[in-house]
Amino acid sequence: MNDGYDAAELVAAAREARERAYAPYSGFAVGAAALCADGRVFAGCNIENAAYGPTICAERVAMFSAVAAGCRDIRAIAIAGPGAEPLPPCGCCRQVMAELAPSADVIMAGEPESRVMTVAQLLPEAFGSDALSTRRDDRE
Ligand code: THU
Repeated sequence: MNDGYDAAELVAAAREARERAYAPYSGFAVGAAALCADGRVFAGCNIENAAYGPTICAERVAMFSAVAAGCRDIRAIAIAGPGAEPLPPCGCCRQVMAELAPSADVIMAGEPESRVMTVAQLLPEAFGSDALSTRRDDRE
């Protein structure tokens, strides 16, 4: 739920971050911006690797930057991909959102319309810390 932040400003930060994407293999540039409860915005872009596997998505770079700077309360994440269609986040990023930004709005930038969903909508029945703790005694 938008509790007073400027979604257009966050989308603009994601679009700006997209310009810094390092995507020489896919040519698919993505930008993201994570808004913290204290108002700070952390940007991310996808960063690819010749070995492919170490590639990281823009959304995770933005969320990890926020946490590394001490932000544990991410309110919203904007994502900007190529083209006019809103870009849905990949499954890995949804799992990280469930961990680090469980109550965030996810704003998928589009033209003319962006799409906004909650993390719970994007990843229902997420695996999380509760599963680890409730089954602690059943581990072999
Ligand atoms: N990518 C992202 O950065 N975010 C997404 O939501 C989808 C995919 C990146 C990963 C890779 O560098 C490129 O886009 C193509 O998959």
